[in-house]
Parts: sequence; C-alpha cells; structure tokens
Amino acid sequence: MDRWEEIDTYAKQWIKEAGSRIIGSLSSPLRIETKSNRNDLVTNIDKETEQFLIQKIRTTFPGHRILGEEGFGEDVKDAGGIIWILDPIDGTVNFVHQKVNFMISIGVYENGEGRLGYIYDVVRQELYSAWKGRGAYFNGARLPKLKENRLEDTILALNPFCIVENRIIDPKKLASLVRNVRGTRCYGSAALELAYVAAGRLDAYVTMRLSPWDFAAGKVIVEEVGGIVTDIYGRPLNILENSSVFVSKPKLHETILERYLKE
Ligand code: IPD
Ligand code: CA
Ligand code: CA
Ligand code: CA
Repeated sequence: MDRWEEIDTYAKQWIKEAGSRIIGSLSSPLRIETKSNRNDLVTNIDKETEQFLIQKIRTTFPGHRILGEEGFGEDVKDAGGIIWILDPIDGTVNFVHQKVNFMISIGVYENGEGRLGYIYDVVRQELYSAWKGRGAYFNGARLPKLKENRLEDTILALNPFCIVENRIIDPKKLASLVRNVRGTRCYGSAALELAYVAAGRLDAYVTMRLSPWDFAAGKVIVEEVGGIVTDIYGRPLNILENSSVFVSKPKLHETILERYLKE
C-alpha cells in the first residue's frame, strides 16, 4: 500500500468508527455548551469525536498536522505538508435538536491542495468520499460527473441569512434568485449541502461564512465530479481562511455568479 492508499483506508475506517460511537451515545444525555453566542453550540460528543479522530491520526501519522473545529488539533498557520482538517460534527444544532442531518467531515490537504475528502452522514450511514484525480464515491459507488441544468430547474441550498440585511451579499439579488429557481433548501449542515451538490441532489449552494473545516472535505468531493467551489465573488477559497462559499456546476455557477452574485 502506498502512503495515500494507507491514509484513505484509515480515514474511511476511522470516520465510520467515529460515526458508530456517536450512534452508541445517542441514548445518553448530552452536555451542551455555547461558544460565541447562544446559538453556537458544542456538545461533549463534538469534543469526544474530534479527540477520537485526532488520537488515531497522531498515533498512525505522527508527521501530519491537524486542524479541528473544537481546537484539539494544532494552531495551523501555514498550509505546508499534510494537514487533516476535521469537523467532528457538522450541523451541531441539528444533532442537538433533531438527531439527524449531521455529518463528520474530514479533508486531507497537502501543501494547500485538497487530496482526499470524506463526509459521513452518521444516521443514514452514507459515506461521500473523493480522492483527487481518482473520482468521487457514494458508499463506494462512483459518482457521475455533474450534469448541467437550467436556472429555472435548479434546487438551490441557501443559508437564509443571505436574504436578511448583511454586509456581504445584496439580499434583493438573492431574493430574485430564490424566485427564479425551482426550489430552495436549507439543511443546516454545510458538509451535507456540499455532499448533496456532488451527488446531484442539489444543483447549487450559497452561504455567507464558512470555516475551513466546513468546506475542506466537500470541496475535494465536489471538484471530483466537475463542480466549481469558490467564494460568492467567484474567487478561489483559501483552505486556512473563513469565507463565503458558492458551489455549483460550471455553467450554472457562471450564470448565477454573473446575474445574482457579482456587484
Ligand atoms: C455549521 C453548519 C451550518 C453553517 C454554519 C456552520 P457546525 O457548522 O455547517 O450549516 O451554516 O456556518 O458553522 O458549527 O454545526 O459544525
Ligand atoms: Ca460549531
Ligand atoms: Ca461545521
Ligand atoms: Ca462542528
């Protein structure tokens, strides 16, 4: 097994193991804390899951660095070498309130470039994965390249904050986009929304502010099926910076960008 095969094999094994541990914990009471505000939640399970994954990575790949949402990894300031980017539970509010639609997200980057991506839908036991240059997969089955569709046939995932007054995006333009597509959705998990674009369940996704661990895995997966992942101005994402995110297929990406997102 070469190095990347080894990383891929372990990552898949660990993400499923972490998922089973979460399922096993569902009947125990959660300890919920708040972070930056009363809606920014973290639970003991977010923390335990991140610690579980980090312990595995550190033991098996001591030379790799780890960036994790809950802060148990390193303070990563540059993109050099191999970096694992972890979101132990993406969609914590869903996890706490709904016990569904929360993901474990793992991206593996080398010198700033996405190599491997994994998004695990814990409750549905659905694994979205990708290896740069070798395709994207849904539970091991190859995902086809994305097919273009017309704007009026689009299912758009949107963070509803895009259509309230804000400093990043013009809510009027977004309101007109919402009127012109077939339907809009908001699942409350950026990783799920990226995975659904890759799987063709959504055609586009727009959101105003994500962190690296929200999009690291999804970016690799979406790009492997020919999708485009940029910020809402069409600029490439920096894997160590927070950013707005806009994901779609090439033609639809261009249409939405030109008509609704660019100044
Ligand atoms: C959040 C989810 C949500 C997105 C937020 C993220 P978390 O991640 O992905 O969909 O709108 O910006 O912070 O905190 O549940 O891991
Ligand atoms: Ca969080
Ligand atoms: Ca997240
Ligand atoms: Ca999280």
